[in-house]
Amino acid sequence: MNVCLSVMAPSDQEFLRKLRSNPDVADWLFAPTRDITAEEQGVWYRKVMRDPYHLVWIARTDHIDPYRIPALWGEQVGYGQLYDIDMLHMTAEIGVAVAPFYHRQGCGGAITERLLHYAFEMIGLHSVTARVFCHNPNALMMFGHCGFSVRGWLPDAIYKQGRFRDVFLMSRLNNVEAD
Ligand SMILES: CC(C)(COP(=O)(O)OP(=O)(O)OC[C@H]1O[C@@H](n2cnc3c(N)ncnc32)[C@H](O)[C@@H]1OP(=O)(O)O)[C@@H](O)C(=O)NCCC(=O)NCCS
Repeated sequence: MNVCLSVMAPSDQEFLRKLRSNPDVADWLFAPTRDITAEEQGVWYRKVMRDPYHLVWIARTDHIDPYRIPALWGEQVGYGQLYDIDMLHMTAEIGVAVAPFYHRQGCGGAITERLLHYAFEMIGLHSVTARVFCHNPNALMMFGHCGFSVRGWLPDAIYKQGRFRDVFLMSRLNNVEAD
């Protein structure tokens, strides 16, 4: 499925709050899995907006499906973010999440490719890094599909759901031939 990206807006906050609270998504993120309140979502939004090195885009389908109920998801399918953008070393970290209804339809890969285009072609970064739980097959496959390679393994790096979890460091270089 093709997606359109737009810079995150205040009107996207309820979608993001629901997405980041959904256990099928949140279980794979490093933050604790729990219901995020509107107030907490607002704090997160204002923090991102104050940080020039943290950019968030919202992905929408590029068509309107008359059978979807707009009040539930609208046309938003997920989000992608580049954070810790470092113009000295020309690096950034990437994060992507897609609403479960849209999994395995190409949305995550499309968001990742768009963010890589922005990172490499628009602001001239040299590498983009993803930190992914070792037990997250969907993200490992998706980033692999988008040209990322595993560069390292961080044992017990994140405490989540009552135990320490291992994390893979994956990255993609701008010049893929150098990869
Ligand atoms: C990871 C995530 C973003 C993938 O999104 P998605 O829209 O389902 O991924 P795509 O459909 O674009 O998949 C892209 C490619 O990855 C591979 N892939 C993705 N999931 C896969 C799976 N479960 N098994 C095998 N291959 C898979 C496939 O090669 C796929 O391409 P194909 O369908 O043409 O074969 C989504 O599962 C998600 O939101 N997970 C929760 C949040 C998360 O884990 N984020 C990553 C941490 S930053």
